[in-house]
Amino acid sequence: MNAATIIDGKAIAATVTDRIAEATKRFVEETGAPPCLAVVLVGKDPASAVYVRNKGRMAEKLGFRSIQKTLPAATPEDDLIALVKDLNGDPSVNGILVQLPLPNHINESKIIELIAPEKDVDGFHPINVGRLGVGDFEQALLPCTPAGCVVLAKSARNGDLSGLNAVVIGRSNIVGKPVAQMLLKENCTVTIAHSRTRELETVVRRADLVIAAVGRAEMVKGGWLKEGATVVDVGINRVPAPEKGEGKTKLVGDVDFESAAAVAGAITPVPGGVGPMTIAMLMSNTYIAACRQHGLTDLEKAAR
Ligand code: GUN
Repeated sequence: MNAATIIDGKAIAATVTDRIAEATKRFVEETGAPPCLAVVLVGKDPASAVYVRNKGRMAEKLGFRSIQKTLPAATPEDDLIALVKDLNGDPSVNGILVQLPLPNHINESKIIELIAPEKDVDGFHPINVGRLGVGDFEQALLPCTPAGCVVLAKSARNGDLSGLNAVVIGRSNIVGKPVAQMLLKENCTVTIAHSRTRELETVVRRADLVIAAVGRAEMVKGGWLKEGATVVDVGINRVPAPEKGEGKTKLVGDVDFESAAAVAGAITPVPGGVGPMTIAMLMSNTYIAACRQHGLTDLEKAAR
């Protein structure tokens, strides 16, 4: 039995962001200003604050303009609505991301639906969800995590997923459902499994490609996998790690990495797999949104 190839999400994300940084130089030459990403954070959730900071830093590293708007947790919904409307109406802002979750008194769907679809770099607006559903990839902005999963899977399969049996475990709106549609576009035969799926192990064993996005630590075992399968692990679960010392924790995926790596052909690690790709795809969406807003079709293609 061969050991699996570890799919290096960090390195693959870096090839994506390097390409965007290069293309951004040309974008600036053409338009006189860089692409601009606005990130809105409401409240002080420490994990969200770290994500938002990382997104801003990466945007600046690639030569984008980065705007961060931080509002107090008690911000009235109407104030957030007014801010999103301002950003929608500002032609110098190309991408808008409102960090989720929002405080309970704010209606998340209402805010997402307010973001101009052409600036919705999360790909969460129902217009973009619909464009993905009908296969309008010319106009859609695609959600970042599922788009990153597809890039990683393709990297392990010489760029071609055509004809593969793909099993997606998880049916969330942000990963499971969109990644299934993207894999259909790649000509996979797609099964979406979930918590009510019968004989999940048998379903997974048929898969050439497994996308695990359930949010349950190390649920998928090596013994469930077909020999040589490609495994993309979207899970990020914090679990106790007594071996590191009392009270210590570590991050693990939805896949039991050790047993899976002994059977899979290729597998993403956690951390260092899907995570870095999500932010790279956010940068890609911001660049694409900016090109479309300037009618720069050729430059949009340059970053693909
Ligand atoms: N919170 C955790 N992940 C995400 C994401 O991808 N987008 C937004 N807007 N909020 C998040």
